This record gives sequence, structure tokens and C-alpha cells, in this order.
Amino acid sequence: MSSDDADKYSILLPTYNEKDNLPIIVWLIVKFMDESGYDYEIIIIDDASPDGTLQVAEKLQKIYGKEKILLRPREKKLGLGTAYLHGLKHSTGNFILIMDADLSHHPKFIPQMIALRESCDFDVVSGTRYKGSGGVYGWDFKRKLISRGANFLTQLLLRPGASDLTGSFRLYKKDVLEKLVASCVSKGYVFQMEMIVRARQLGYSVGEVPITFVDRVYGESKLGGSEIFHFVKALLYLFATT
Ligand code: GDD
Ligand code: MN
Repeated sequence: MSSDDADKYSILLPTYNEKDNLPIIVWLIVKFMDESGYDYEIIIIDDASPDGTLQVAEKLQKIYGKEKILLRPREKKLGLGTAYLHGLKHSTGNFILIMDADLSHHPKFIPQMIALRESCDFDVVSGTRYKGSGGVYGWDFKRKLISRGANFLTQLLLRPGASDLTGSFRLYKKDVLEKLVASCVSKGYVFQMEMIVRARQLGYSVGEVPITFVDRVYGESKLGGSEIFHFVKALLYLFATT
């Protein structure tokens, strides 16, 4: 399918304590989207960050306009998985792009993901750190091991046919994302892995674009030991039920 004038991209940015990153990521998204000429909106889902991220987002909305920047805050920290759902519910585009707001995902890859999606009419395009020119920068050995280990285990048990299962830089057709979300049982970080596994199960086509993931400079990761426990639990659940 070729580029359609009616196509619109809703870019979901979940934030928790990202006041220093948000202005830069929004500036970069606007730059790359405007340059490539796609219609888009940015939806910021802030979970009552104590650092005042929402106030920063409000300023950005004044600068870029209410059509470009939508604010859909929530009252407390409710987790990444439900933040996507919340943003999805409020989106007006027919395509949804999900990415981190901490500059680990560079917006320069968005036009590449869109171009690949259009060229093959993929249902999902996933950014991958584990193929071609993709990679991870700035993670310590432990974090790399966790990510590699999670991917390896999942590849082994579920054979999902995608190279980066835990990444969260992805482009979806909106109706496909809605169906995937409805079929997923997990919350939190595991969500990404289940989404791509379910996509294959349901017969959706998945394309991949190599991306470089650069560890955040400002602020802290929210991934903790309990997330790793949840991941393994969910993986075994999926293995047993699919
Ligand atoms: N609204 C909301 N609520 N946003 C959240 C929450 C939450 O509870 N928790 C995290 N976020 C936001 C962060 O502000 C950031 O924009 C994004 O979600 C990712 O969170 P990080 O804490 O930076 O994640 P990470 O760098 O440790 O993990 C990344 O790599 C993982 C493994 O590859 C993310 O891309 C994960 O999704 C990925 O699974
Ligand atoms: Mn991060």
C-alpha cells in the first residue's frame, strides 16, 4: 500500500519523571515528522510525575499547539502497559507509534519505520536492537545480560519470529493494536514481549527496522528486580498456554 493522504500517526509518549527529556524528544519528533511530511499527533501520558513533567508538557503544548500535543495525564503511577491503553483510547490516528520518552529511542527512526510499513503493508513494524545495524549503547553488563537473556529465553520457548521481543519502539495499525491489546494478559514491561508473540499467533505481519538504543542520560530507569520476576512468570505462562 502506498502513502495515503488520510493516514495519521498517533505517537504515544508515556512519561514518569521525564521533565529534562521531554522538551528534547518532542522537538526531535516534530523535526523528523515535519520534514517527512506525515500527519501526526503526540499524546503524552504522564502518571503524576513528582518532578513536574506535566507542567513541562503543558508548556510544550502552548508552543506546538493543541492539535499536535495532546495531554492525557493520569492521577497516579499506573504502569507502562495501561499507559499505552490510555493513550490508544484517546488517539485519532489510524496508525499508532509507541516509544520511550527518555531519548533512548531516536525519532530519526520513525520515518524509516513508516516507509517500511508502507512498502510492504506490514501490520506491525518493530524497532530491533538485535539485527543489522541495531544495537544498545550505555547499558552495563548486567542490563545487557537481562535483555539478551529475556530475548533468548523467549526465542527458545515461543519461537516468535522477531528479533527484538522486549523492545518498545513499534508502529502498529490501530485496529491491529486494539486486537492485540485485547488478547494480552500481562501488564508492565512484559507487555512488549507478549504483544509481539501474540502478533505472530494471530497471523499479523511484522517488519523490523534496526535501531540503536541509547541509555538515558537524564533520570532513572523504572525497571527493577520485580519486573524480571514478572517477565519470567509471564513467559512461562505464555509457554504453557500458547
Ligand atoms: N505513564 C507512565 N507510567 N510512564 C512510564 C511508567 C509508568 O508507570 N513507567 C515508565 N514510564 C515511561 C518512562 O518515563 C519512559 O518514557 C518509558 O516509559 C520507558 O521507561 P524506562 O524506565 O526508561 O524503561 P527502561 O529504559 O528501563 O526500559 C526500556 O527497555 C526495556 C527493555 O528493552 C523500555 O523501552 C522498556 O519498554 C523495554 O521493555
Ligand atoms: Mn529508558
